[in-house]
Amino acid sequence: MIILAIESSCDETSCAIVKDGTEVLSNSVSSQIDIHKEYGGVFPEVASRLHVENINIVIKDALDKASVSLGDIDAIAVTQGPGLVGSLHIGVMAAKTLAWSLGIPLIPVQHIAGHIYANKLVGKLEFPLLALVISGGHTELVYMKEDYVFDVIGKTQDDAVGEANDKVGRLLGLPYPGGPVVDKMAQAGKPHYKLPKVKTENPLDFSFSGLKSAVRQTMIREEKEGKEIVVEDMCYAFQHAAVDTLMERVHLALNQYPVKTFVLAGGVAANSEVRKRVQNLKEVHKDLNILQPPLWACMDQAAMIGLAGQVAFDKGYRAGCEMSALSNNPLPTY
Ligand code: KG4
Ligand code: ZN
Repeated sequence: MIILAIESSCDETSCAIVKDGTEVLSNSVSSQIDIHKEYGGVFPEVASRLHVENINIVIKDALDKASVSLGDIDAIAVTQGPGLVGSLHIGVMAAKTLAWSLGIPLIPVQHIAGHIYANKLVGKLEFPLLALVISGGHTELVYMKEDYVFDVIGKTQDDAVGEANDKVGRLLGLPYPGGPVVDKMAQAGKPHYKLPKVKTENPLDFSFSGLKSAVRQTMIREEKEGKEIVVEDMCYAFQHAAVDTLMERVHLALNQYPVKTFVLAGGVAANSEVRKRVQNLKEVHKDLNILQPPLWACMDQAAMIGLAGQVAFDKGYRAGCEMSALSNNPLPTY
């Protein structure tokens, strides 16, 4: 079965061709990041207009690279949400038009499910599974007893970890998006600044806004004392505090739930410290199957929507011409 998948939830316009739910024949991505950099963040109106300009180009490119034609496609998968509603609508409209004109099924895919199923690129997902979802918009621990049934057992009470990374980057005068730059700087930093430990009422929940404020307070204090901020060391302190918080919750969840596979998902899954610490889980949880997507698949792209789309299709998910984008689209729970 060949699926043409479309993703346009934020600032990447992407189309992929995925065969039998495992083989990515092509994955074409048009990133708008250089344009949004000028605004210091994603400008939703601009993002929607750029999706309109790029959507047909990535669809044609994905078909060409996979050496398939529209007649070879068996179903269309598309991100329904969550995301920026204006951005989502462009992908949804393109997908509906293709499915309707080709007379083939349309599969609605939840964006976070896509990030989780990106791990099919590197191994088999055996259930029960625990996913640490870390992106610009989400920070969640997701427990799955079976395919495409999701139970959110912990979530952030304020900022997502990627968002906190980007805000700390801005505080330190680093370019947008701050996450990858903070990560790079942290690797050159030393333990120097101390940031407080984050506490939450539900031990599996997360909180990052206090950590971001602590960075700001430390900067103000140091500047008052006439000391120059060592950016690398501040990045080191923030990165280690943030990853400590993430890993503490992962350890707790692994002790509470019978997990066979642990997966990383979302843009922050590209973080060097997270990836290192996740590998270390093996020391305590010897039989755990640990998967992390390749770096290219951590970011938003349509290959993951095709991989998740096949599972959703097998589970009976279908949409009709009335399908609409959903900016707050929860993970399916049944
Ligand atoms: O999943 P994603 O591409 O978009 C959303 O669905 O949100 O994630 C983007 C987020 C941004 O906040 C970006 O700064 C962060 O992922 N990010 C990183 C790294 N690479 C991307 N954060 C920390 N370390 C990285 N290496
Ligand atoms: Zn994403």
